[in-house]
Amino acid sequence: MSNMLSGKIALVTGGRGGIGRAICARFLREGATVFAADLTEEGTLSGEAESRFIKYDVTSEDDARAAMAKVAEECGKLDILVNAAGIEIEKTVEQTSLADWNRIFAINVTGTFLASKHALPLLRQGQNASIVNFGSYDGFIADPGLAAYCASKGAVHALTRAMACDHGPEGIRVNAICPGYIDTPMLRSFFRDVGDIETLDTAVRGVHPLRRYGTPEDVANLVNWLASDEARYASGQLWVLDGALTAQVQQMRI
Ligand SMILES: NC(=O)c1ccc[n+]([C@@H]2O[C@H](COP(=O)([O-])OP(=O)(O)OC[C@H]3O[C@@H](n4cnc5c(N)ncnc54)[C@H](O)[C@@H]3O)[C@@H](O)[C@H]2O)c1
Repeated sequence: MSNMLSGKIALVTGGRGGIGRAICARFLREGATVFAADLTEEGTLSGEAESRFIKYDVTSEDDARAAMAKVAEECGKLDILVNAAGIEIEKTVEQTSLADWNRIFAINVTGTFLASKHALPLLRQGQNASIVNFGSYDGFIADPGLAAYCASKGAVHALTRAMACDHGPEGIRVNAICPGYIDTPMLRSFFRDVGDIETLDTAVRGVHPLRRYGTPEDVANLVNWLASDEARYASGQLWVLDGALTAQVQQMRI
C-alpha cells in the first residue's frame, strides 16, 4: 500500500457492514484516521489497526449532529465521508407496506442526505474533500422484487449529481459507487430469501462476463481511489462496478 490517504480523516456510515468494514480496513492501511459509524459495533477488524466506533443511526438527525461533533472535537476536520449504510427489502410494490417504503427511504436516502448535510461544515475544513455515496446498478436497471430498493438507489444517484453541482465550487467532490453483486451479508440474505444458495451462486457467476461476483475489497479499491487526491478531477459520476454484468445484451446469455 502507498499511504494514499495519509493525514486524512474519514467517516464511514455502515462501517461495520460487509462493504463498510472493507473500506475502513483499506483506509486504515492507507494511513487515514477512520471513524466507523454504525448501529452495531459487531464486526471489528481483528489483528489490524482499528477504526474509532461511533454508534449512529443514519435516520436520526441528532445522531448525525453528534457524530460530526465527535469528529470535530477529536480531529477538527473531515476529508472523506462514505455513505455506505443501507438496507434491502425484497418485495414488489404490491407487497411493500408504507412502513417498508418509509424505512428503506429513511436509511438509504434520508441517511445519505443527513450525514452529508451535517458533514459539509467539517468537509470545508478538509483537504480535497470527497463524499462517496452508495447507489447500485439497481438504480439504473431493475432486479425483480426489489421495487423500493431500486427507487431508493435511483434517488441516491440523483442526489449525488445535485450535491456534486452544489459543492464542486467549494472544492468538494461527490461521487456514487453503483455495485452489482458483491459478496456480503446483504447478498447472502437475498440468496437465502430467493432459493437454494449453491444453485444461485453458480447461476450468478455464470451471468457475469468475469464469471464471479465482486468482493468487498473490490469495492474498497474504487472507494479508496475516489477518496484520494489522485481522483481530484472525478466528481458527479455514478461508478458502476459489476464485473461487466450490465455491459452485455440479454440474448448473449442463451
Ligand atoms: N452487497 C451488494 O451486492 C450491494 C450491491 C449494490 C449496492 N450495495 C450497497 O452497498 C452498501 C453496503 O452494503 P453491504 O452489502 O455492505 O450491506 P451489509 O448489510 O453488509 O451492511 C450494511 C450496514 O449498514 C448498517 N445499517 C443499516 N441500517 C442502519 C442505520 N439505520 N444506521 C446506521 N447503519 C445502518 C448495518 O448495521 C450494516 O453494518 C449499501 O448501501 C447497499 O445498498 C450493496
